[in-house]
Amino acid sequence: MKKSVVAGLLLATVCATAAMAGVIEDRQAIMKDFNTASRTLNGMAQGTVPFDQAAAKVQLQLIVDGSAKLPTLFPAGSDQSTDTVKTLALPAVWSDTPGFTAAAAKISADAKAAMAATDAASFKVAFQAVQGDCGGCHRTYRAAPPRPAGAPGGGPGGGPGRGPAQ
Ligand code: HEC
Repeated sequence: MKKSVVAGLLLATVCATAAMAGVIEDRQAIMKDFNTASRTLNGMAQGTVPFDQAAAKVQLQLIVDGSAKLPTLFPAGSDQSTDTVKTLALPAVWSDTPGFTAAAAKISADAKAAMAATDAASFKVAFQAVQGDCGGCHRTYRAAPPRPAGAPGGGPGGGPGRGPAQ
């Protein structure tokens, strides 16, 4: 009896840790999608890729969908890195949940607004707001990521989410 209780508790702990690693990976996967979307959108904003409203909308929709999920992906206890996954989320996510939720809502609203842009010039302005939201949230709610050696300003996950300007 006692043994099975201990075994059950152990199992519960293992499951909880696995669940936390899963939720951390889920939110980091959304961020990686944000990063990929931002690169494409930034190309259009900079004029290195021709502006294409339909293509921009697809990427902006990824940001809208991802930001809707964000508030559910930071449950209590997921502020700690696990053996397998390291989180850079700062305690402010949990101490200032309304602010964090508002930051997620803001990028969604700005991405929706950018969808309405029909020409390159207005898209550029609208997308700047979206990009500003990445850095705006990271400054308060994410610890600065370590910079990989030999890749100043970049590395995996580089781009608008990183760098001193953010
Ligand atoms: C509402 C807040 C918020 C917004 C908006 C936001 N991020 Fe993040 N981002 C975070 C947090 C918090 C983390 C750390 C997650 C973790 O490690 O658990 C993060 C992590 C990341 C990472 C690292 C992911 C990894 O593999 O560990 C990248 C890249 C990133 N964000 C890119 C972006 C880009 C690009 C945008 C804008 C299009 C953006 N983020 C908008 C909060 C945000």
